[in-house]
Amino acid sequence: MFSTLSIGSTRSHVTVVGVTSDGKTVPATYAKIQAVSDALETPGFSGENGEVLAAGGKHVLLGLGEPGSVTPASIRTAAAKLVKALDRRGDKGISVDLSAGFPKKRAEVEALGRAFAEGLAMANWRVDRFDGAASRKAERGGALAVDSSDADFRDGLRRGLLLGGAVNYARGIGATPPNICNPAWVAAQAKKLARETGLKCTVIDHEKAKKMGMGGLATVGHGSDSKSCLIHLAHVPKKRSRGAKGKRLVLVGKTLTYDTGGYSLKVNNGMKGMKYDKLGGCAVLGAMKAIAEMDLPIEVHALLAAAENMVSGDSMRPDDIITMYNGVTVEITNTDAEGRLVLADALTYAEEELEATAIVDVATLTGGVVVALGHFCAGWFCNDEALTTGIEAASAQSGEKLWKLPLWKEHKDFMRGQHADLINSNPARSAHPIQGAAFLSYFVDEKTPWAHIDIAGVGNVDSPNDLCVAGPTGWGVRLLTDWVEGETR
Ligand code: BES
Ligand code: ZN
Ligand code: ZN
Repeated sequence: MFSTLSIGSTRSHVTVVGVTSDGKTVPATYAKIQAVSDALETPGFSGENGEVLAAGGKHVLLGLGEPGSVTPASIRTAAAKLVKALDRRGDKGISVDLSAGFPKKRAEVEALGRAFAEGLAMANWRVDRFDGAASRKAERGGALAVDSSDADFRDGLRRGLLLGGAVNYARGIGATPPNICNPAWVAAQAKKLARETGLKCTVIDHEKAKKMGMGGLATVGHGSDSKSCLIHLAHVPKKRSRGAKGKRLVLVGKTLTYDTGGYSLKVNNGMKGMKYDKLGGCAVLGAMKAIAEMDLPIEVHALLAAAENMVSGDSMRPDDIITMYNGVTVEITNTDAEGRLVLADALTYAEEELEATAIVDVATLTGGVVVALGHFCAGWFCNDEALTTGIEAASAQSGEKLWKLPLWKEHKDFMRGQHADLINSNPARSAHPIQGAAFLSYFVDEKTPWAHIDIAGVGNVDSPNDLCVAGPTGWGVRLLTDWVEGETR
């Protein structure tokens, strides 16, 4: 693993030359170099996407596949494979020329440069913080300088390294175990991020939340020694773009630092992995880091509803009735449907205190979304056409896939209770992802554009892939940042 990736050149750099698989084509200037033309003849090298081959001491060939199939997604994967090969080789710098497979439009070249750097950064990451005495000493390599003579591609590289860095930041917090990462620890991380990037951070602690009437947030964390808090980060830029005038965007993240299920306890080791129940909050933190570093000309707020769902004499019980921040009463039918309770109070806060003009919440809300959609995409809901278009455009750009689910009056009625206004889970046990969204809809004004993204299936992976080791993926950091950037236009 390289210690850092940065834009720049070194004297000892190698040139990475893109090769398409149609007749193994390289840009004309390289075709004349003997080492390159020799390497192209290597048996078995076909220019398939992600293939890496040294061509003498000064060039490295990188397969891009068929020219028609070169996309940001394919380039991301190729870069991920490349960075691992460069690490093994011990390179110090690369100059990149993939123009053999390039479209010529400026924006497209920028997008490919960005995807390339995202791939480099996201694949060059693992958690080494918990390597102990029995670990082989991790050999952290030196720095890698990345450059290109194409100005558009280089602009993309800069953006991609920044976004990849924000993804890795979110992953690092996501991977932190629950004996270290509790709500107070997340609040401390948010404050540190604010100091480093110029964001404003305020924390509403348990006492204050209770006084304010945030029954959902306070109740869920009641059984834990580390009580709940609502973490608020604000990006208030000096200048706003024309498109950003009058907008106040709010990102909300479910931040359950651990979810035992409470008295409706998770069984059959279903608890293992529930440190990842904070990944919605991590995605929001990562996005705020990127938004602040890019200093996007738009006002953006983040709310992390942080709690730990534990079992104790103080925990909520099934049958408890609580009053939420907006005055709605809820009968707890299942203490494991806790995410919607903390999120609901954050949504009310976004509406009433922040006067949000659009809200996007991200949450590992239901196991049901994994049953429905697997680990291939997030499930989502949206009550507004323009917001749908914006989120879908961001998803197309970042490669983080979404699939929309319905949310009708019937679903909302399904969450009504007999002993209180609402129940937090319907004992009929069906349509779980929609139940979650339906419950949340009672805490958002119908007129406020709102999207709810359930990332339970995509927030972490059990086995490594090209872009990610086993653990948190950082899903949502780039999607949220891209959406916010789209809102500046
Ligand atoms: N944190 C879980 C959802 C989850 C499950 C995330 C698996 C990642 C992987 C959530 O709080 C939960 O327990 N949801 C329940 C809801 C049910 C009790 C209504 C679920 O999905 O089973
Ligand atoms: Zn739960
Ligand atoms: Zn949960």
